[in-house]
Amino acid sequence: MTESATRAAYDSVAVLYADTFRDVMDDLPLDRAMVAAFAELVRGDLPVADLGCGPGYLTAHLASLGLSAFGVDLSPGMLAQAREEHPDLRFDEGTMTSLDLADESLGGILAWYSIIHKAPDELPPILAEFHRVLAPGGHVLVGFQTCEKDTPEPFDHKVALAYRWPPGGLSAVFRRAGLIETARLVRQPTSIHERTPAGILLLRKP
Ligand SMILES: C[S@@+](CC[C@H](N)C(=O)[O-])C[C@H]1O[C@@H](n2cnc3c(N)ncnc32)[C@H](O)[C@@H]1O
Repeated sequence: MTESATRAAYDSVAVLYADTFRDVMDDLPLDRAMVAAFAELVRGDLPVADLGCGPGYLTAHLASLGLSAFGVDLSPGMLAQAREEHPDLRFDEGTMTSLDLADESLGGILAWYSIIHKAPDELPPILAEFHRVLAPGGHVLVGFQTCEKDTPEPFDHKVALAYRWPPGGLSAVFRRAGLIETARLVRQPTSIHERTPAGILLLRKP
């Protein structure tokens, strides 16, 4: 799926998406715990980017935890929602395939259900971008749908084609990009929006 197709798909559902997921973290204490651990690890002078931020509820959550957080997204529609709901925060239009950010300028990267739209062979250059913009010692937190197979599998995501990943398989792709797993969490689905267990990987650039 091309980035323009992904952008158009998210533009067309932006208002509904924002309304549906605005408060989703309230019912996900395990996810919040991982985000809180990430926030504690990255707290410092450098900013933290929420890449594929959508309507920005996690960007705002990171800011509420004391981080200098900003969002980046492909979809102007999603960014309009983010800017309307969080006018005090910075949201940039852009793509994670080519980030308009200086080398080693970030303390952390959150990629929450955003790399899922990339085909497996498209991920290595994106993770190379993550590695480039992250300062040494920086951390990445990734949310994704898991599968029990050994290899990633495409699924009928409601907005745009997406891939479920075996946690170990995704961790190995990050490792090859120089981003080393610190911890992982796999939890059972908890809402009607989830059909398979959710995965969260925390990784670090040495
Ligand atoms: C499933 S939504 C997740 C949004 C938000 N992180 C959340 O958890 O609700 C995926 C988001 O990733 C964005 N996205 C997809 N591909 C992207 C890319 N290459 N660069 C930046 N954003 C991208 C989409 O526009 C969409 O807002």
